[in-house]
Amino acid sequence: MQIKSIEELKKIREKSMKKVNLREHGEVSGDQVEVLVGMATCGIASGARETLNAIVDEISKEHIENVKVIQVGCIGHCHSEPIVQINVPGQKPILYGKVDDEKGREIVKKHIKNGEPLKESIIEDTFDRA
Ligand code: FES
Repeated sequence: MQIKSIEELKKIREKSMKKVNLREHGEVSGDQVEVLVGMATCGIASGARETLNAIVDEISKEHIENVKVIQVGCIGHCHSEPIVQINVPGQKPILYGKVDDEKGREIVKKHIKNGEPLKESIIEDTFDRA
Protein backbone atom coordinates (compact mmCIF):
# COMPACT_ATOMS: atom_id res chain seq x y z
CA MET A 1 0.00 0.00 0.00
CA GLN A 2 1.28 3.40 -0.92
CA ILE A 3 0.38 6.31 1.34
CA LYS A 4 -0.06 9.46 -0.72
CA SER A 5 -0.74 12.18 1.83
CA ILE A 6 -0.53 13.13 5.49
CA GLU A 7 -4.36 13.03 5.61
CA GLU A 8 -4.34 9.45 4.43
CA LEU A 9 -1.73 8.58 7.01
CA LYS A 10 -3.83 10.20 9.76
CA LYS A 11 -6.88 8.18 8.71
CA ILE A 12 -4.88 4.95 8.86
CA ARG A 13 -3.58 5.90 12.29
CA GLU A 14 -7.10 6.64 13.58
CA LYS A 15 -8.32 3.30 12.30
CA SER A 16 -5.47 1.48 14.00
CA MET A 17 -6.06 3.36 17.26
CA LYS A 18 -9.67 2.18 17.29
CA LYS A 19 -8.42 -1.39 17.03
CA VAL A 20 -5.91 -0.78 19.81
CA ASN A 21 -8.65 0.63 22.04
CA LEU A 22 -10.75 -2.42 21.40
CA ARG A 23 -7.86 -4.62 22.46
CA GLU A 24 -7.17 -2.56 25.57
CA HIS A 25 -10.72 -3.01 26.73
CA GLY A 26 -10.60 -6.68 25.86
CA GLU A 27 -14.10 -6.84 24.57
CA VAL A 28 -15.63 -7.61 21.23
CA SER A 29 -17.87 -4.97 19.73
CA GLY A 30 -20.84 -5.57 17.47
CA ASP A 31 -23.03 -8.60 17.81
CA GLN A 32 -20.73 -11.30 16.51
CA VAL A 33 -19.37 -13.99 18.77
CA GLU A 34 -15.83 -14.92 17.83
CA VAL A 35 -14.52 -18.45 18.18
CA LEU A 36 -10.75 -18.60 17.93
CA VAL A 37 -9.23 -22.04 17.44
CA GLY A 38 -5.48 -22.38 17.98
CA MET A 39 -4.04 -24.01 14.89
CA ALA A 40 -0.32 -23.91 15.62
CA THR A 41 1.50 -27.21 15.11
CA CYS A 42 0.95 -28.16 18.75
CA GLY A 43 -2.79 -27.54 18.30
CA ILE A 44 -3.03 -29.53 15.10
CA ALA A 45 -1.03 -32.38 16.65
CA SER A 46 -3.51 -32.46 19.53
CA GLY A 47 -6.54 -32.61 17.27
CA ALA A 48 -7.46 -28.95 16.71
CA ARG A 49 -8.62 -29.74 13.18
CA GLU A 50 -11.24 -32.18 14.48
CA THR A 51 -12.24 -29.64 17.13
CA LEU A 52 -12.60 -26.92 14.50
CA ASN A 53 -14.71 -29.16 12.25
CA ALA A 54 -16.95 -30.19 15.16
CA ILE A 55 -17.49 -26.56 16.20
CA VAL A 56 -18.36 -25.47 12.68
CA ASP A 57 -20.69 -28.46 12.27
CA GLU A 58 -22.46 -27.83 15.58
CA ILE A 59 -22.91 -24.12 14.80
CA SER A 60 -24.57 -25.05 11.56
CA LYS A 61 -26.73 -27.79 13.15
CA GLU A 62 -27.90 -25.37 15.84
CA HIS A 63 -28.58 -22.72 13.17
CA ILE A 64 -26.54 -20.11 15.03
CA GLU A 65 -25.78 -17.21 12.74
CA ASN A 66 -23.90 -14.54 14.67
CA VAL A 67 -20.69 -16.54 15.05
CA LYS A 68 -17.38 -16.10 13.32
CA VAL A 69 -14.95 -19.04 13.57
CA ILE A 70 -11.34 -17.96 13.16
CA GLN A 71 -8.25 -20.14 12.88
CA VAL A 72 -5.36 -18.57 14.76
CA GLY A 73 -1.76 -19.50 15.45
CA CYS A 74 -0.12 -19.92 18.80
CA ILE A 75 -2.25 -18.88 21.77
CA GLY A 76 0.51 -19.78 24.20
CA HIS A 77 -0.74 -22.81 26.14
CA CYS A 78 0.83 -25.80 24.37
CA HIS A 79 0.13 -28.05 27.34
CA SER A 80 -3.61 -27.50 27.06
CA GLU A 81 -4.15 -27.84 23.33
CA PRO A 82 -6.51 -27.85 21.57
CA ILE A 83 -7.29 -24.33 22.75
CA VAL A 84 -10.46 -22.45 21.94
CA GLN A 85 -11.11 -18.83 22.84
CA ILE A 86 -14.65 -17.48 22.92
CA ASN A 87 -15.17 -13.75 22.57
CA VAL A 88 -18.71 -12.69 23.33
CA PRO A 89 -19.47 -9.00 22.67
CA GLY A 90 -19.37 -6.99 25.90
CA GLN A 91 -17.68 -9.76 27.89
CA LYS A 92 -14.12 -10.73 28.72
CA PRO A 93 -12.75 -13.48 26.50
CA ILE A 94 -12.80 -17.02 27.85
CA LEU A 95 -10.07 -19.53 27.07
CA TYR A 96 -10.85 -23.23 27.05
CA GLY A 97 -8.24 -25.96 27.13
CA LYS A 98 -8.17 -29.57 25.98
CA VAL A 99 -11.14 -29.02 23.71
CA ASP A 100 -11.76 -32.22 21.80
CA ASP A 101 -14.57 -32.43 19.27
CA GLU A 102 -17.14 -33.41 21.89
CA LYS A 103 -16.21 -30.50 24.15
CA GLY A 104 -16.22 -28.20 21.13
CA ARG A 105 -19.85 -29.15 20.47
CA GLU A 106 -20.69 -28.62 24.13
CA ILE A 107 -19.15 -25.14 24.06
CA VAL A 108 -21.32 -24.26 21.07
CA LYS A 109 -24.50 -25.53 22.72
CA LYS A 110 -23.94 -24.28 26.25
CA HIS A 111 -21.70 -21.23 26.03
CA ILE A 112 -22.48 -19.75 22.63
CA LYS A 113 -26.14 -20.72 22.35
CA ASN A 114 -27.24 -20.52 26.00
CA GLY A 115 -24.65 -18.16 27.47
CA GLU A 116 -23.45 -20.70 30.05
CA PRO A 117 -19.66 -21.15 30.00
CA LEU A 118 -18.29 -24.62 30.80
CA LYS A 119 -16.58 -23.65 34.05
CA GLU A 120 -14.61 -26.90 34.48
CA SER A 121 -12.87 -26.47 31.11
CA ILE A 122 -11.86 -22.82 31.40
CA ILE A 123 -8.13 -22.25 31.68
CA GLU A 124 -8.25 -18.48 31.69
CA ASP A 125 -10.99 -15.89 31.95
CA THR A 126 -9.17 -12.88 33.29
CA PHE A 127 -7.13 -11.77 30.34
CA ASP A 128 -7.72 -9.16 27.69
CA ARG A 129 -8.42 -10.05 24.14
CA ALA A 130 -5.48 -11.18 22.03
S1 FES B 1 3.44 -23.32 20.04
FE1 FES B 1 2.00 -24.34 21.25
S2 FES B 1 0.82 -22.79 22.08
FE2 FES B 1 2.40 -21.77 21.04
